Amino acid sequence: MSADVLSAAVETPGAAPCLTGLPPRALDKRELLDLVNELADRPDVWRRHVAFSDGERHYASLYRDEYVDVWLLCWTPENDTGWHDHDISSGAVRVVSGELAENNPRIGGEHVEVALREGASMCFGPEHIHRMTGTAPASVSIHAYSPPLWRLGQYSISDDGLMRRLSVSYADELRPLDED
Ligand SMILES: [Fe+2]
Repeated sequence: MSADVLSAAVETPGAAPCLTGLPPRALDKRELLDLVNELADRPDVWRRHVAFSDGERHYASLYRDEYVDVWLLCWTPENDTGWHDHDISSGAVRVVSGELAENNPRIGGEHVEVALREGASMCFGPEHIHRMTGTAPASVSIHAYSPPLWRLGQYSISDDGLMRRLSVSYADELRPLDED
């Protein structure tokens, strides 16, 4: 994907932006990484959607077609996705302000935790299981998925380590499941 894939991005007032120049196919995780990094430099596309809520994590759909979807997520330290996967989708995340934490579950051991500070980005395939939380007030991130999210797996891990998966719609806000 060219570095200027979004150079012709068009934003229509009141409508989702049209991202031109994307290839007519699913994007791999490296291409998704390029996409979120390019969008980070296009605040005209996402800035007006920024808002924060401790109770319900604020998010906005920036774009969706048959191959890719793009979201803006806004975080407070109270916001927590819970453990989840992205079913068949690859994904990429770019932190445009603040700081997030990404955790990966480790059965029988300490979970892995990585700090994603402003300017950091990462990508993953469908095999990836993680949990994301806001660690700084007023954090903002851009997320892209391909194929577009449709179902996700949401996990609970009980105190004795038993892990269960629940299939949920992408339209359901991810939040921690009650853990036994
Ligand atoms: Fe995720």
